[in-house]
Amino acid sequence: MYIIKGDLIFSKDRDSLNCIKDGYIGVENGYIEFVDNQIPSEYKNISILDYSNKLIIPGFCDLHTHAPQFENIGLGMDKQLLPWLNNHTFPTEARYSDVDYAYKRYEYVVEKLIQSGTTRACIFGTIHKQSCQVLINLMQQKGIRGYVGKVNMDINSPEYLIEDSNASIQDTLDFYNSNKDNEDVKPIITPRFAPSCKEDTLAKLGEIVKEFNIPVQTHMDENLNEIKWVEELFPNYTTYADVYEKNNLLSNRTVMAHCIYLKDSELEVLNQRGVYIAHCPHSNANLASGIMPAKPYLEKGLKIGFGSDVSGGNEIGILKSMVLSLQLSKIRHHFYPDESTLSVNEAFYMATKSGGEFFGKVGTFENNYEFDALVIDDNDLTINNDLSLEQRLSRFVFAGDDRNIIKRYCFGKEVG
Ligand code: GUN
Ligand code: FE
Repeated sequence: MYIIKGDLIFSKDRDSLNCIKDGYIGVENGYIEFVDNQIPSEYKNISILDYSNKLIIPGFCDLHTHAPQFENIGLGMDKQLLPWLNNHTFPTEARYSDVDYAYKRYEYVVEKLIQSGTTRACIFGTIHKQSCQVLINLMQQKGIRGYVGKVNMDINSPEYLIEDSNASIQDTLDFYNSNKDNEDVKPIITPRFAPSCKEDTLAKLGEIVKEFNIPVQTHMDENLNEIKWVEELFPNYTTYADVYEKNNLLSNRTVMAHCIYLKDSELEVLNQRGVYIAHCPHSNANLASGIMPAKPYLEKGLKIGFGSDVSGGNEIGILKSMVLSLQLSKIRHHFYPDESTLSVNEAFYMATKSGGEFFGKVGTFENNYEFDALVIDDNDLTINNDLSLEQRLSRFVFAGDDRNIIKRYCFGKEVG
């Protein structure tokens, strides 16, 4: 057991921020035993990691990113979703049939995630199960936790990146069976998006989800041309969400990336099922996809976390997602004055506790939660001010970066 001391900031709910100046967190076997402004008497002899005057915040949760696309950051940014996939993304992902290639690239990916303050991530690999295994092994070795998905693509994809339908299902089962007992990094069912899977494949994936109770990640309602294409491909379904719903892919263990253009009935079904939305502001801006109405969705009860969505997104760290989501929410307000705007506290909540909930008891400093944390040295950001803890958080969010993060903990262990 150890005790960590510093200026604690964490969310318990969407509206408020909990701040404890010179607070203490007791950590045993990865779990939080106590959070207090003094050390409870029964813990007086435990060693203390003293980060006085530094901020301690929960680690960031990235609900949606693509490991093979890190090498494409900043490329192809003059295109929209479908041509971007065909011209930039698919050719790059095809290289991950080579496991040695994947090892080199994924080592960099995991290091970059850690550097940016992400301690939990929900990640797309490629269709290649061996390369996805490499990614799981590297995350485990380097100490961050989360989910990795072997992607399913068996239709409407280039011949160099398409699977035989039976092999797609079999490889998914193999990948699941090899990793189902891993407590640190777990497998997740990952149909790329409705257009890249046959209806029968979606149905089979849904059956696997139901049988083994496995989480799901995919994309939805990202781009207007994509939505139109789904309507053409799936004429027997009422909406894009209905394609996933009818095939048993929506539950409170599903992450749905983007969801910019939800129809009322889609919003309702996501709410009913308790689906998590991955809000990916950088990707949505770069690919000219649109601006997700984050605040109205929160007000309607939807569960939202952030996704970096590299390489639609150009920023690896969730700190930057917070800032852009706040800025975009104000730009939306300019066009839709009836919509209110996100607050910094809400963005912090989405980056930590709200996104963290997908991974279990993660994303805040409360008893029995898994201890993920970042220690922030914000001295250079606050040198001319006498700021409250809430103001220091806001300053760090808007003016800080990776260099202010001096320690990272995931499930109680230091990483990086
Ligand atoms: N939709 C299907 N595949 C992708 C992808 O790789 N990135 C994004 N942003 N959207 C997608
Ligand atoms: Fe994506």
